[in-house]
Amino acid sequence: MESDQSAKKLWVLGTGGTIAATAASASDNIGYTAAQVGVATLVNALPGLQSVLLGHELCSEQVAQVDSKDMSFDIWLALAKRVAHHLAQADVSGVVITHGTDTLEETAYFLQAVLPPELILAKPVVLTCAMRPASALNPDGPQNLMDSVAVALTPGAHGVVAVCAGTVHAALEVQKTHTYKLDAFTSGDAGPLAYVEEGSVRLLRNWPLALMDKALVDIKDIATIVAWPRVEIVMNYAGGSAGVVDALLQPCPGVAALRGLVVAGTGNGTLHHDLEAALRRAQQAGVKVVRTTRCATGRVLATAHSEFADSEGLSPVKARIALMLALMSSGF
Ligand code: SIN
Repeated sequence: MESDQSAKKLWVLGTGGTIAATAASASDNIGYTAAQVGVATLVNALPGLQSVLLGHELCSEQVAQVDSKDMSFDIWLALAKRVAHHLAQADVSGVVITHGTDTLEETAYFLQAVLPPELILAKPVVLTCAMRPASALNPDGPQNLMDSVAVALTPGAHGVVAVCAGTVHAALEVQKTHTYKLDAFTSGDAGPLAYVEEGSVRLLRNWPLALMDKALVDIKDIATIVAWPRVEIVMNYAGGSAGVVDALLQPCPGVAALRGLVVAGTGNGTLHHDLEAALRRAQQAGVKVVRTTRCATGRVLATAHSEFADSEGLSPVKARIALMLALMSSGF
């Protein structure tokens, strides 16, 4: 990738979500259909955009149009390819992605893990979203999109981040923790990366580093994989049993064999003894098991006799992605 001080383009890639949703009534903030409005329309509707563009040309591309609860591996791959393509152009300063809030943290982590480190150490990828539909009386999407443009054009910005309600979160930590409030995301113990105030970014800590020296799996290699390794998530709770894990291990017509299990344990990843025994059997049968916690904040701290790998601070949904990518890189 060539570096170019006169970079002049900012790409906004649309994937759908509530930011692109419409409802029958402007007073309805929840009874909407996600992924209805094209990204070009969202961008063109922004008042005062020129004030944050700093002379950049804003270009848009619709990569997908989905409610993010329906996010798929195919869309992730298409998105990663388009982001990598745009970032590699010398005249591009960064990429903004409009996305549903529901799985935004998973897409952010996936992109941070698979995009070539030399690209995301040089330029930003900013995911943004909305909790209210575009048709709402007082939608939050336009401000979030404006803030994302400001973040993407901040000198020195790099890595994959998320912007919502004036707050910038790093891909590694961002988590949706509220079902309704406009400020629906947190970075947990790490705290936010920055705030956006009237188009200015107030940085609280460093921009994210790449997760590793090289992407865990090359996007080109992911593209050759016909079916991604199947990794499921199970949870510990009062009265837990071996039943779910034992059922997941059973062959099922038309469903790929299980390759990995992420368990969201109680507290410091603790497990009901029946569930633990079932996970031990799964591991002995060749299924990779990763222990996480169902607590919204904090991380599993390994104990002297841990039988299962821990997620190194990743939430259950991000640990699942990390395990899928690790399985891909080992040829699963
Ligand atoms: C979605 O995740 O696509 C719908 C919900 C939202 O964006 O808030």
